[in-house]
Amino acid sequence: MPASRRGSGSFTLTTGQTIAIHTRTQDEEDLPHATKKTMADHLRKYESLFTLTPQRMRMIVEAFTETLELGLNKPNQIVPMIPTYVFGWPTGQEKGDFLALDLGGTNLRVCLVTLQGEGKFEISQTKYRLTEEQKQDDGQKLFDFCAECLHTFVETNTGEGAGQLKPGQSLPLGFTFSYPCSQERIDHGELIRWTKGFGAGNTEGRDVAEMFKKSLEKYQLPIKLTALINDTTGTLIASHYVNPKTKIAVIFGTGCNAAYMENVKNITKIEHLGIDPGAEMAINCEWGAFDSFEHEHLPRTKYDTVVDDTSNKPGEQAFEKLISGRYLGEILRLVLCELIDEGVLFLGQNTYKLEKPYCFDTAFLSLMESDPTDELLMVIGIFTHFFALETTLAERQFFRALAKLIGRRAARLSACGIAAIVSKMNYLDEGCSVGADGSLYNKYPGFADRVHEGLQDIFGDKGRNIVTYHAEDGSGVGSAIIAAMTKHRKDAGLYLNV
Ligand code: GLC
Repeated sequence: MPASRRGSGSFTLTTGQTIAIHTRTQDEEDLPHATKKTMADHLRKYESLFTLTPQRMRMIVEAFTETLELGLNKPNQIVPMIPTYVFGWPTGQEKGDFLALDLGGTNLRVCLVTLQGEGKFEISQTKYRLTEEQKQDDGQKLFDFCAECLHTFVETNTGEGAGQLKPGQSLPLGFTFSYPCSQERIDHGELIRWTKGFGAGNTEGRDVAEMFKKSLEKYQLPIKLTALINDTTGTLIASHYVNPKTKIAVIFGTGCNAAYMENVKNITKIEHLGIDPGAEMAINCEWGAFDSFEHEHLPRTKYDTVVDDTSNKPGEQAFEKLISGRYLGEILRLVLCELIDEGVLFLGQNTYKLEKPYCFDTAFLSLMESDPTDELLMVIGIFTHFFALETTLAERQFFRALAKLIGRRAARLSACGIAAIVSKMNYLDEGCSVGADGSLYNKYPGFADRVHEGLQDIFGDKGRNIVTYHAEDGSGVGSAIIAAMTKHRKDAGLYLNV
């Protein structure tokens, strides 16, 4: 049993903020709170809405597998199955200094990676926070900001003083741009659509590598863009560099996506390029788009529909919207708002703070689920500190149970995606390692266990053969390894044949 802590105390959020908490002694009495039975009745309703049976999961896997095949066979499909022009696995012997720029969902990161061979590396990095305005402003300005950050980083880390760059020398750069881009070669990428709430203008449909090169020129940086990659592809390669059993990489963070290594002969939509059919190429699935627009296969609740309708891209990224960290908090908040409207929760209290879209961070779900106290002090802290709301123990238990339902559904759907790649590639019998990264995977308690449980529900005992593990840093190290692999191909004269 976890120890019960009573009275006053404090806890620290992942943001570093410390919050004071206190337990109420007579919390059932002064405000008209919902009874334990009411909360239990409501919970049952949500249980049936958010629970995925093994049978349902198998149906999703079947449809998912077909969708993956379709994306390989035909261009411009909803799940685009993007050929990345990353050919085969790293040898582990890649060496040298590489810059990596990582434009993900939340931060911009600049890294200097020294690959030492034998699966070893050193990395130094700086993070810059992106503002909401930057995400929505003009695209060229966003790339200018990237170049500006690179400029500052290069000045401090690779100047002559630092002894790394000689005058006239340029550093190869791997740019991790984690949005769907259709590529014709490795240093090219046309943005198909923004995801994860980004909406920067004049960028969709354009070659972002070209736009970024323009920004590099503005700052006259001694840098050469060698490879444009997705975070999943980087994760696949970086994880294989240190753990050669890795065959699939997944990201469960602000967004949700996967990459794996495919036989070129199976990517029939690029047959005309005449690439050696015996070669292998990494595929960036962009599986977050599964079931977009049609909404035929996934179990969407009315809360999911609201999340979708009110997003900047209605209809798109249907799978991602049920799973990724950007949306889980909002789904829970919408359930709470419904119960407020029905007069079940927080009667007599001012709920305006909770009524603001996206105010309920997905990190709160993690915190609620990991609260070790009988009184659920963490849950008290969240509701009083952030929303000025008082709660009873029965309500807090309900909130926690709800977080569990939403978190568990996300993990089980994630298992469906992994299972689809495993089925397609026939990895079940021999088994495989899946490198996984992202805030949800790394910080949400029990997420990985729930994915594994889901895989067993889908495949039975053999599901144990598929094991996820915390991946290597794909957007930094992976991007550097891919830049090294590309440089090697170029030096060997292979690049022109793609
Ligand atoms: C979104 C992006 C995808 C990325 C994923 C994880 O789904 O479209 O490119 O890999 O988020 O960051």
